[in-house]
Amino acid sequence: MYDLIYVSTAKGSPSHDDLKKLLTRARERNSELGVTGLLAYDQETRSYVQILEGPKESVLKIFDIIRKDQGHENIRVLKEGDSQSRRFGDWTMAMVESAYFKAIVFEYL
Ligand SMILES: Cc1cc2nc3c(=O)[nH]c(=O)nc-3n(C[C@H](O)[C@H](O)[C@H](O)COP(=O)(O)O)c2cc1C
Repeated sequence: MYDLIYVSTAKGSPSHDDLKKLLTRARERNSELGVTGLLAYDQETRSYVQILEGPKESVLKIFDIIRKDQGHENIRVLKEGDSQSRRFGDWTMAMVESAYFKAIVFEYL
């Protein structure tokens, strides 16, 4: 298992619908590649934090796609490396609200 956690800043202000579309596509590809995780978006700071977990090759492949996405910028990896087990095994990509954003970021800083 491999974990990668990053934060980034949205370009513009994605609407609820934009986020829903993004998640639908993300869940499709992630489930194909065996990647699970969590995505949080904070409206106030327009920041994303995402946790990707799965086989190393799959995680890096998906992150490579995400990194090139013009929908966000200022991408900073907080943590990356081997891990013992999945924490989001039931979620091809869980989405949480702003309230949890800081808690997740602080856990990895
Ligand atoms: C913050 C953020 C997180 C994303 N997370 C994922 C993800 O977990 N999995 C994924 O496949 N795409 C994710 N995407 C979308 C990809 O960057 C890309 O736009 C999409 O997968 C392209 O789909 P396509 O090949 O159908 O054009 C994310 C995009 C952003 C901005």
